[in-house]
Amino acid sequence: MSQKDIHKTFPVLYSGEQIQARVAELGRQIDADYYGQSVVLVGVLKGAAIFLSDLARAVSLTCTFDFVAVSSYGKGQRSSGAVKLIKDLDQPIEDKNIILVEDILDTGLTLAFLRSLFERHKPRSLRVAALLDKPSRRLEQINADYVGFSIPNHFVVGYGMDYAERFRNLPDIRLMPPDAPELH
Ligand code: IMP
Ligand code: MG
Repeated sequence: MSQKDIHKTFPVLYSGEQIQARVAELGRQIDADYYGQSVVLVGVLKGAAIFLSDLARAVSLTCTFDFVAVSSYGKGQRSSGAVKLIKDLDQPIEDKNIILVEDILDTGLTLAFLRSLFERHKPRSLRVAALLDKPSRRLEQINADYVGFSIPNHFVVGYGMDYAERFRNLPDIRLMPPDAPELH
């Protein structure tokens, strides 16, 4: 098998169809919760970009986007622990309904950092949407208001999620085996 097709050996955890069905449900839930209001979806680059683009189209509310970027995982599977803002919001969030959109809620360090940062700007409301939740890994006390799927402690790639920046474009979410051959 060529290096390009290495992901085909990674088992599928959720297929593209399963993800779309779940994202549609989350969109309906958000529509109901914010009925008659508008929301700002704030995506955490880069992992949440694909989830945000599907979630935004599953919502029929008046909706705008913004993006932030934080320092997160390096090349490997482990976090450095420190969170740093690399790209700030473009627009003020004061008095707006903010939904922070993230690919995975893992240790919670990223979202706890962003939540406390955003709260200082006095949004009208602040909620979190995470496609995946790994509750067993939590170090910070934070939960998502909208969760696609709750999963055990496995490293996953695809649908925006990467290993060393690769595999973000896979349409499915796949499990990356801990003994996956060295990827270069
Ligand atoms: P946290 O600060 O530990 O909650 O980290 C969340 C970030 O870690 C996510 O936005 C992902 O970028 C990354 N991450 C955590 N688990 C995985 C995984 O299984 N695959 C890919 N990235 C992950
Ligand atoms: Mg991320």
